[in-house]
Amino acid sequence: MSFTKKDVVLTDDRPKTLLLQKHSDYLAGYGLNKDDFEYCMTEYLRMSGIYWTVTAMELMGQSFRMPKEEIIEFISSCQDSESGGISASIGHDPHMLYTLSAVQILAIYDRLDAIDVEGVVRFVKAMQQEDGSFFGDKWGEVDTRFSFCAVMCLSLLHRLDAINVNKAVEFVLSCMNFDGGFGSKPGSESHAGLIYCCVGTLSICRRMDALRADELAWWLCERQLPSGGLNGRPEKLPDLCYSWWVMSSLTMLNRIHWVDKKSLEQFILACQDAETGGFSDRPGDITDPFHTLFGLTGLSLLGNTNIKAVNPTYCLPQETIDRLRLEPQVLH
Ligand code: FPP
Ligand code: ZN
Repeated sequence: MSFTKKDVVLTDDRPKTLLLQKHSDYLAGYGLNKDDFEYCMTEYLRMSGIYWTVTAMELMGQSFRMPKEEIIEFISSCQDSESGGISASIGHDPHMLYTLSAVQILAIYDRLDAIDVEGVVRFVKAMQQEDGSFFGDKWGEVDTRFSFCAVMCLSLLHRLDAINVNKAVEFVLSCMNFDGGFGSKPGSESHAGLIYCCVGTLSICRRMDALRADELAWWLCERQLPSGGLNGRPEKLPDLCYSWWVMSSLTMLNRIHWVDKKSLEQFILACQDAETGGFSDRPGDITDPFHTLFGLTGLSLLGNTNIKAVNPTYCLPQETIDRLRLEPQVLH
C-alpha cells in the first residue's frame, strides 16, 4: 500500500532571493486603475485589502508610497453611525472583519482619532452572545475568527473592559479538540487559520496557560510538507498563507524551531512572481496582496532582517504594538 501526499515540486528556475523592490512596485500599483476587473470583484473585502497592503508596505519600509490621507478618509466614510461598526466599502453593511481591518490600519497610522471609537466599542460589545461567542454581524454567524476580531479590535483601542473577557475565553476553549487544535465552533475540525485566531485570542487575553502547547505545536509542525510549504489541515495542498497562520501560532507557543525553517524559506521565496512582483498561494500561481502580506510576514518570523519585525499575535509591525504599549502573551 502506498501513501500519497498532496504537495508541489519546487523547480530550479524558481526565485531564490527576496525581490523587495518588485513587491513594493506591485502593491503601489495595485488598484490604481479602479476599473480593473480584479479590483471591482474585490470591493466586498476592500477594507481588508487595504490592511494587507498597508501592513506589507509598512514592513518593507515603503509606506510613503501609499495615499495615507485618502485611506483615512475612506475608513471614516465606512463607519456606520447607527451601529458604530465599519464596513468593507462605502454603503456596505458593517462587519467584525472589516471593523478590525480598519482599526488595524488606523493603529499603524496612529490615527485612531479619525473614527468614532465609542461607536466601534458599542458595535463589538453588541456582537457578544450569552455563551461568550461573537457574531460577525447582525445576521448572527458565530465563528472563533469573530472572537479574535473582537478582542484584537478592543485591545488596540484599550477597551477590552467593554466585553466579558472570561466568557470570550471560555467559548474559545470550548472549541478545543482532542488534538489540541481549534475549529470555528465547538466540535468543528482543527484548522490552522482558526488555531491562529484562538491562540491569538488567548495571547491577547493572557490565558496561554489554558493551551495544550505540546500537542498543539505537534499538530502545527505536522503541517509541513516535503516541499517545505505548510498546509492548513491534513491532506491539503501547501498554501503560502499558512506560513502565517501556522508560524505565528508556533511563535506564540515558542516552538517555531519545530519546523524546518530553511525549506519553508525556500517555499516562500518560490511563491514570488519575478515578473509581476507579489506572492501567490503556490509557486507559479497569480499573485495577490493577501498572499504578499503573508509571504513577507512569514519571512519576518523566520528572521529575515530586510523586513521589519512583525508581531505574531496582531499581524502588525512590532513598532506599532510597542507604541500602543500592548503586551500580548507569548509562552516562554
Ligand atoms: C483560512 O481561511 C484562514 C482563516 C480561517 C483565518 C482567518 C483569520 C482572520 C479573518 C482574523 C484576522 C486576521 C489577521 C491576519 C489579523 P480560508 O477560508 O482561506 O480557509 P481554507 O484554506 O480552508 O479555504
Ligand atoms: Zn492562502
